[in-house]
Amino acid sequence: MSEGKYKPKFPRIAQLKTLEQFREYLNKEGIPLPLPDEPLSGNQTPLSKGHRLRSGKLIGNSFCILPMEGWDGTLAGKPTEHTKRRWGNFARSGAKLLWGCEAVAVRHEGRANPNQLLLNEENLVDFKELYSLLIKEHKDAFGRTDDFFVGLQLTHSGRFSKPNSQDKMEPKILYPHPYLNKKFGLPEDYPVMTDKEIHDLVDDFVKAAILAQKAGFHFVDIKHCHGYLGHEFLSAIQRDGNYGESMENRSRFLKEVVSGIRSEAPGLEIGVRLSIFDWMPFQKSEDGLGVPAMTPPYSFAFGSDNSGTTINLLEPYDFLKVLQKLDIELVCTTAGSPYYNPHIQRPALFPPSDGYLPPEDPLHGVARQIEVTGKIKKAFSEFYVVGSAYSYLQEWLPMVAQEVLLRGMADSIGLGRMVLSYPELPADVLSGKGLNRQKLCRTFSDCTTAPRNGMISGCFPLDPYYKEMDIHEKLKKIKEA
Ligand SMILES: Cc1cc2nc3c(=O)[nH]c(=O)nc-3n(C[C@H](O)[C@H](O)[C@H](O)COP(=O)(O)O)c2cc1C
Ligand code: SF4
Repeated sequence: MSEGKYKPKFPRIAQLKTLEQFREYLNKEGIPLPLPDEPLSGNQTPLSKGHRLRSGKLIGNSFCILPMEGWDGTLAGKPTEHTKRRWGNFARSGAKLLWGCEAVAVRHEGRANPNQLLLNEENLVDFKELYSLLIKEHKDAFGRTDDFFVGLQLTHSGRFSKPNSQDKMEPKILYPHPYLNKKFGLPEDYPVMTDKEIHDLVDDFVKAAILAQKAGFHFVDIKHCHGYLGHEFLSAIQRDGNYGESMENRSRFLKEVVSGIRSEAPGLEIGVRLSIFDWMPFQKSEDGLGVPAMTPPYSFAFGSDNSGTTINLLEPYDFLKVLQKLDIELVCTTAGSPYYNPHIQRPALFPPSDGYLPPEDPLHGVARQIEVTGKIKKAFSEFYVVGSAYSYLQEWLPMVAQEVLLRGMADSIGLGRMVLSYPELPADVLSGKGLNRQKLCRTFSDCTTAPRNGMISGCFPLDPYYKEMDIHEKLKKIKEA
């Protein structure tokens, strides 16, 4: 979708110039976003507030960098200069919590693309270097690292695995999905992973966690979001055997991984990034807008009812009780999947090339995630809760973030796309310097369109490093088309 030709039917955030205009628009549209009367800065802002975890570890402020892949590792799963540059940016951002930096596969077959990072014995030295890079860059920029808390996101991409070629999906699925099997060309009788294969995969997660600890990382995230394997367990209600049907069984994978990590890597913290609600898949209608791809009843959306487009938190609450029992403190909320309902996952005015036009003002998508995260925080106050999907707020991000924290609707504000275009936003907000509007992410989605077309990801429109690359021209042509 070319930004030049496309006229969005919702106002751009930059058009809502004053706080009063923004507030009026939210009221008119019935968008429940928390907004303060005035911005706070320096020590006054709750964004500068630190937190000591139950383990005694310190997180120095309330900004978190969310994991974001760059599709730019080597075929062996090692970081490249692009990867190191991005991780360095994260370390210098000013955020004191790095939630995993990017999804890292625990075995080759579970890589989401042939260039996804892979954590194995051969690559341990590279992960040690990545960790040292984070610590050095943060120390050089801010003088201390005792309050800098850094994790690694461990994943198996399940249904969306593409380990060997950008053009060839090699899915590992837990149950046949009535729409996603067809959409990605899988016959109804495509084999599902056996309980034995899942059991073996648990060992690989534990091995990867041991390596993450050896490399220096403070925690690992056992990824349960975005339609990847961990998330698919949560909707495996029609699967037989030890890992399907009841919540007891659907959470068994996590319980086994956690038990392995606790015994083999004691002291390593564990977090869970969770699609706290999901909806049915959406598709492009004739006029380009996103519409539900199926007719209800739909029973495969964890955190929804049978309509497939309404939030129901009963099951997510049950899953969070499992986390409580496992003594997990770190929870990061997100929603849906970038593959089948991107508008609820990463609200954007300009969709990626394989997406659809937003069926609602993207501010609704932001407000939905903030509201649900607030409910989780209220119901489970002992979790340290990181929220997501703030980038679309642009100029209003710091003010909404401030109010979310003041109202106790989250403990930390997670930043995704915004730090691809404007890595030092947290530092600028915390120092009271104010925002550099030229660098604000305007949700052009090039960082998603590029990898969907076999290229590395990055902020092509705004980051000079990517803007000047030859492949930027190729990307522009794809968007024009
Ligand atoms: C290019 C790109 C790569 C991403 N990679 C990951 C990932 O590896 N793991 C993950 O949990 N989320 C990933 N996400 C989702 C983000 O962490 C985040 O949830 C999403 O972008 C919404 O937050 P935002 O509005 O601040 O961008 C990715 C998002 C983008 C744009
Ligand atoms: S390409 Fe840049 S401006 Fe566009 S969504 Fe990604 S980070 Fe934002």
